[in-house]
Amino acid sequence: MIYVTRRERFSAAHRMYREDWTDEKNLEVFGKCSNPNWHGHNYVLFVTVKGNPAKELGFFINISKLKQIIKDRIIEKIDHKNLNTEVSFMQGKIATTENLAIAIWNELKPEIEKEGATLHRIRISETENNSIEYYGEEY
Ligand code: NI
Repeated sequence: MIYVTRRERFSAAHRMYREDWTDEKNLEVFGKCSNPNWHGHNYVLFVTVKGNPAKELGFFINISKLKQIIKDRIIEKIDHKNLNTEVSFMQGKIATTENLAIAIWNELKPEIEKEGATLHRIRISETENNSIEYYGEEY
């Protein structure tokens, strides 16, 4: 089994909050990311897919195809956007990196499978020091 990882970068605004809480309660739970006037992050997204290279090709997925899928399905929709208000697949969700990783997984999985590969991991860095990983496991 071979694992292939594509890195993409995007910038997006967000606010982590619950509508049914006061600004004070949101600040207490979500910290600075609950700022009512939004703020942004420079995110780094790593998409890892796996498969067995075909003997006649020496690879299992064309990396330029993988790059195109990620650009079309994710980057075009989130780069320089507001995750809370402008991104269809984040509607109704708290705009955490955790929820973003799950949403990106769900967007990409069927597209990757159409190419005969398997989605293995979504990793997102929100800052240099914090990153989130999702392997498609519910629990
Ligand atoms: Ni934030």
